[in-house]
Amino acid sequence: MMQDIERILIARGAISDRVRALAQEITHDITEKGEGAELVLVAVMTGSIIFVADLMRNLPMKVRIQLMTASSYVGKTTASTRDPFVGALPDVGGKHVLLVDDILDSGKTLTRVRDELETLEPKSIDTCVLLRKKIPSAMSVECTYVGFDIEDEFVVGYGLDYDDYYRNFPDIAVIVP
Ligand code: IMP
Ligand code: MG
Repeated sequence: MMQDIERILIARGAISDRVRALAQEITHDITEKGEGAELVLVAVMTGSIIFVADLMRNLPMKVRIQLMTASSYVGKTTASTRDPFVGALPDVGGKHVLLVDDILDSGKTLTRVRDELETLEPKSIDTCVLLRKKIPSAMSVECTYVGFDIEDEFVVGYGLDYDDYYRNFPDIAVIVP
């Protein structure tokens, strides 16, 4: 597996430091929403599994988590090729929602999922991505919390895949094309 890794872009230590800092920001902001404000994490599968698992363990408050599916990549491609398919919607009416995804690229997934969740009339909806590519399509999507801004490269690891592999790689890495 390691042979396809070209270089490590963000090492596990830097990821966990940043995840802790994001969790602190989120904790601060939810406290400001008022006493007893409770958060529902809506995690977009599958890329956000590791990120959301680490993030939620750094949130010292009552949270619930709901998973939803959305995908725009199929098979061996490094470019999003179609409109994101969105699966069953979670139950978020009247709740404070934090939508969590792995990466902002074309921005279609986050925008699409967010629009779908809005129809369920949550009390508030914020968004959190671990990575955002420094390209206009990604930078122009409004996002409340961003872990790292990265160059326009295809990355894997820490939940992110190529053809569904590499999700278990502990660092974020660039693969040999
Ligand atoms: P978008 O809809 O183009 O913003 O793409 C978002 C989805 O595509 C993410 O949730 C990822 O699953 C996937 N994706 C985008 N860029 C990458 C990448 O560099 N590596 C792995 N997956 C990616
Ligand atoms: Mg994804």
